[in-house]
This record gives sequence, C-alpha cells and structure tokens, in this order.
Amino acid sequence: MSTAQPGTASKALGIRSYLPTFEEMVGNSKLLGLLKHQLTLPVTDLKNILLVGPPGSGKSAAARRYAESICGHLERPELPSPGRKWPKGNSGYALFINGGAVDADLFRSIASWDVCFAPKHLIFVDEFGLLFERGLAESLRVVMDNPAYIVIGTAQSMTASARRLESVAERDQRREALLRRMIVCTTEDPTEKELFDWTLKQLKKWTIGLDHPKTLHDLILVSECRVGRVVTAIEKAASYPEQQLTRDIVQEVVRELDLPL
Ligand SMILES: Nc1ncnc2c1ncn2[C@@H]1O[C@H](COP(=O)(O)OP(=O)(O)O)[C@@H](O)[C@H]1O
Ligand SMILES: [Mg+2]
Repeated sequence: MSTAQPGTASKALGIRSYLPTFEEMVGNSKLLGLLKHQLTLPVTDLKNILLVGPPGSGKSAAARRYAESICGHLERPELPSPGRKWPKGNSGYALFINGGAVDADLFRSIASWDVCFAPKHLIFVDEFGLLFERGLAESLRVVMDNPAYIVIGTAQSMTASARRLESVAERDQRREALLRRMIVCTTEDPTEKELFDWTLKQLKKWTIGLDHPKTLHDLILVSECRVGRVVTAIEKAASYPEQQLTRDIVQEVVRELDLPL
C-alpha cells in the first residue's frame, strides 16, 4: 500500500491519509514493542488487541499497519453480506470497520459467516467503543470469542470499551477465557523533545520550510504533544504552494482545536 504525502491525496479526498510505518512513528515504544512481538508469533497464536488512548496518538495508524502486516491489505468499508464466503487466501483477510458506522445487522451476523481456509481473519474495529453505544457489545463478544477471528480495536477510553466488554463477558461467565485472548495496550503521546525532533524530520522529508524557528516551538506547545495535531499542521502547510509552516497555520490549527495560543 502506498503512503500518501500530506496535503496531496488527503487534501483532495478530504480525508487524512498520512500513514506512517512502524519505523516512522514517534514515541509509543510500548505499543510498537507489543505489535512487533505479535508479528513474530505464528498467526494461530495471535490475540485480540484493544488499543486505548487519546485522539491523535496513533491508535488507528498503528492498527492499520499491524493489520496490513498480518493480512497484506485492508478491505474497506463494506462488510461481506451474510452467507457470502470470505475470500480465500493463505494469509487471511482483514476487514476494516468503523464502530460508529458499521451496519448493525451485518455485524451481528459476522460470527456465522463462512470462515474458509485461511488460519485467521482479522477484524479491525476502529472506534470500538461506539459498538457498545449501539447495543452491539454482545455481537462483539461473540466475534472476539471465536478463535477464527482476531479483533483489533481502538477506543478513546477504557470505560466505553474494555470494561464494558468485561461486564458482557462476566454475564455469561466466560470472562477469563475472553480476557486470556485479549491484550489491552494504551497509546502514549511522545515527549516534547521527541515530537520536536520528529516534526523537524518530517518537515525536511516533505521539504516544508519554517517562517520562523519559533513557529515550531509554538506548534509543539499548542499541540500538547498530540501527534495528530502536528500532522494536521504539516498537512495544511503541504497543501499551500509556499510549502511553509507558518504562524498562521499554527493559529489555524489552534482555532480548530479551540485552544488558547
Ligand atoms: N506516534 C505517531 N507517529 C507518527 N504519526 C502519528 C503518530 N500518532 C498519530 N500519527 C498520525 O497522526 C494522525 C492521527 O493519528 P490516528 O492514528 O488517526 O490517531 P488515533 O486513532 O489515536 O485518534 C494520522 O495521520 C497518524 O498517521
Ligand atoms: Mg482513530
């Protein structure tokens, strides 16, 4: 899969498409250590993983890269319809769904789908917590409990996700079994220094200049070490012909965040 440059495809499509490799990610050493270790295991030993952490800390990006490493690609956004077989393949099949947007009836029917020959199928549920709000916790539990599937989910908080999943499991007394098959890992924001150095490197990579050295310090400060905010600023800078990160752009990001500069 190709990695889009900031401000080009992402801008035109109106979506964020910068997707770092594990090596390009800043911070998150615990998360990356876990995912890299998982990738050394036989696919049949893989567990479900739930990534919990603040917005813009790399949960979705890391999960996508992980899913790609296992299955080679991600299929989105539609679910196969009930009764339809999953595509055949040796490496498995990764399904990308968003917890807030997935079709509820189809999601409920996942566990009964035909699991053909691949050893594992991976279901990447972005914004996992939203499934609970939509009354789909029980279906999620069934899928996570099925050894034919690996679920990797992301959520912004524990309360809306793992704990509620635990309570669903508790009700049918399968909590231990379910939790043995699940790893919860929290994502972390990088330190100021890490983010500063990383941002400098990205600006260089995308040949984006700075109007003033202080602009970068300001950006790190207002971003509160949230990588996603810095990426937003880089993408904005890349979308202008000047190819420069300016104080105006930093202020634009701040306005969007509603934070004082
Ligand atoms: N640690 C990181 N290193 C590099 N890029 C990151 C990191 N965290 C987030 N990003 C980038 O910032 C943007 C937002 O990250 P995302 O993975 O969507 O965050 P989350 O899912 O945690 O809300 C994406 O373009 C992503 O590639
Ligand atoms: Mg996300």
